[in-house]
Amino acid sequence: MDLGLSGKKALVLGASRGLGAATAQALAAEGVTVFAAARNISALTQSEGIKPIQVDLADKQSIAALIDTIQAEGGVDILVNNGGGPKAGPAQGQPAGAWTGAFEVMALPFFAITDALIGGMIEKGWGRILTIGSSGIVQPIPNLGLSNGIRGAIAGWSKTLANEVAPHGITVNMVIPGRVATDRLQELDSGRAERTGASLEDVQAASRAEIPVGRYGRPDEFGAVVAFLASQQASYITGSIIRVDGGLIKGL
Ligand SMILES: NC(=O)c1ccc[n+]([C@@H]2O[C@H](COP(=O)([O-])OP(=O)(O)OC[C@H]3O[C@@H](n4cnc5c(N)ncnc54)[C@H](OP(=O)(O)O)[C@@H]3O)[C@@H](O)[C@H]2O)c1
Repeated sequence: MDLGLSGKKALVLGASRGLGAATAQALAAEGVTVFAAARNISALTQSEGIKPIQVDLADKQSIAALIDTIQAEGGVDILVNNGGGPKAGPAQGQPAGAWTGAFEVMALPFFAITDALIGGMIEKGWGRILTIGSSGIVQPIPNLGLSNGIRGAIAGWSKTLANEVAPHGITVNMVIPGRVATDRLQELDSGRAERTGASLEDVQAASRAEIPVGRYGRPDEFGAVVAFLASQQASYITGSIIRVDGGLIKGL
């Protein structure tokens, strides 16, 4: 299926590895010029159609410089908000600084970059804003208090924005991974193995057993869904939270 994206421009944040890198590749394969942003620029894919840009989402000046660079390129049609996840830990007892620190690096950069780039989409009467979240938004994950809490706030922002810009031909959606095999998932599984004294293999086997599909997802399976949501065909999907979880979330 031709997704009708040839000639479009995208900014993908957190694109040096994992879900962001797979999303950048899926969009580039559709003929999109992709600005792929992350801190570790040497890890950014150098394939055709992908232009690496260095950014540190924890640094306001770096974010401002990224926005300037993208605006100098004439803006983008597609924005994929993505970045690192916070430290694992319970909801109880987190110091205020842990909450504000995680909010500043996980949520505020998405809000600021989206605000800066959405005006260009409104002018063109077309745009796609896709924010990568977590299954924890729908079914909070034990011991990921910061992630569950802050991503819930991002979900509220995304839905509110979707309503505001729908008349301008802009769709705004979240895509939520269950367990997709990336560095982040490996870190969380290793942390769990350390905490419980189980082997990494046992932790992974128990984790896979909770997923109806019976395995972790592949980053390319995730990237393909984001590319579809960016497509012309997905023009009537907005304000939604789309699961890519192999059935992990138990509720409807
Ligand atoms: N994989 C899963 O199954 C899963 C499940 C639920 C939620 N998630 C969430 O989905 C997001 C992406 O997941 P992932 O598995 O691909 O994570 P990942 O392997 O940790 O990759 C995170 C990406 O974000 C970039 N990044 C991190 N901190 C940054 C910063 N300060 N400035 C700029 N870029 C930054 C990293 O690049 P640099 O280090 O080069 O900057 C990397 O490209 C994460 O927030 C994760 O928590 C993932």
